[in-house]
Amino acid sequence: MGRENFGSKLGAVLAAAGSAVGLGNVWRFPIETGQNGGAAFIIIYVLCIIILGLPIMISEFLIGRYTHANTAGAFRIVSNGSPWKWVGRMGVFTGWFILCYYVVVGAWTLHYTYLSVTNAFYGVPAQQYENIFGDFVSSSWMPTLWLFLFIGVIHFVITRGVQSGIEKSAKLMMPTLFVITIFLAVCSIMLPGASKGVEFLLKPDWSKVDSTTILEAMGQAFYSLSLAMGCLCTYASYFEKNTPLAKSAVNVALIDTLIAIMAGFIIFPSIFNIGMDPNEAGVGASLTFVSLPNVFQQALGDGSVLAVVFSAMFYFLLFVAALTSAISLHEVATAYVTEEFNMSRKKGATLVTATILVLGTLCSLSFGPLSGVTLFDRNIFEIFDDFSGRILLPLGGMLISIFAGWVLDRRLYHNEISNQGNLKTPYFRMLVFSLRYIAPLAIGLVFLDQLGAFSFLK
Ligand code: PHE
Repeated sequence: MGRENFGSKLGAVLAAAGSAVGLGNVWRFPIETGQNGGAAFIIIYVLCIIILGLPIMISEFLIGRYTHANTAGAFRIVSNGSPWKWVGRMGVFTGWFILCYYVVVGAWTLHYTYLSVTNAFYGVPAQQYENIFGDFVSSSWMPTLWLFLFIGVIHFVITRGVQSGIEKSAKLMMPTLFVITIFLAVCSIMLPGASKGVEFLLKPDWSKVDSTTILEAMGQAFYSLSLAMGCLCTYASYFEKNTPLAKSAVNVALIDTLIAIMAGFIIFPSIFNIGMDPNEAGVGASLTFVSLPNVFQQALGDGSVLAVVFSAMFYFLLFVAALTSAISLHEVATAYVTEEFNMSRKKGATLVTATILVLGTLCSLSFGPLSGVTLFDRNIFEIFDDFSGRILLPLGGMLISIFAGWVLDRRLYHNEISNQGNLKTPYFRMLVFSLRYIAPLAIGLVFLDQLGAFSFLK
């Protein structure tokens, strides 16, 4: 059977952007920016994207498109049988591993959309939100039910194939996501006192920038672009031969960064409007599921139509962002089993879905009935999160940049990014320089930082 491709360049970019735009854009980037010097952090972040993120993204695109194979197959082909083929296998494993816990949070966004729509936050006292979240995640049935629904949607999209599943859904969901983001940001900016929030997000404060800020910016850039987990390589294997690689990568990075900054415009004006200290709003799950539902109610009028609509749209936005990312992760594994073990797409996808259902449920229950199952004091969910984020991702990124910079044939590289000499590539030398020297070193530092080597600096 012939291999499918994306039907258009726009579809290809939107699908890749769907992978990049995820929970990290909303629950991590804005708060990191606010706390680390506002515009100063954004400038550093953008530099990290340009110097580090784009070269690796372009390399992943290149390897995928050149081989037209799943990530493991792709690295096997370009590594000519050397041990570098393991980098591809590791990418597939990383993507699959991340998916196991990512779906759990995806399920939470569904529950919070539901709570918002049914006006369940009406009249809830501020201190009660923590219990609402705690009771929900520690129960067994509710999170599992939403989890199955979330995985069901992913499965539905994946089994429909590359064009009518992934591409079509990206073309529908990415514009939706964009419109919702703009709408919410505009609403939030119009709140009284919003300017303080905008100032918190944007006012450059270089005194807050130190070496750990830079490490944080690098780590965030890396995670946010979905690097080193096989997603971009797999999606690029569906690119047409004439898809411009560098330009597509720049577009994906632009969309990703823009959404991340706009997420800050949604969050901070409301936080400042109710007079909350943004440093106490938390980050990640506690920001998203404990602080924000309360903030939205208070800022927009407890139980008011505006609060219901705003809150529902916000969690729906998170749901869409998480869904498109999760789809890209599922595709990494599906393409792998389908092609490496000669299965039909349907069978391959079902196999992957089955494993995610089991492991996802374990991760989900680790906040409730299975909370006693721990390793180094971390529950199952946290083990998945730590192992992938702290070890697999940086290690994979470092290996990919070394491979692309030192091992991959330079002429092949140039041939591919110039689309067989049809495109100008004035950035080529810079790109190779970054892949050879800057990226491995920088990611190596992030890696050491993740392992706690620089904790004395903090
Ligand atoms: N890039 C996504 C984000 O910013 C994270 C992600 C991780 C996406 C893994 C896909 C796979 O949230």
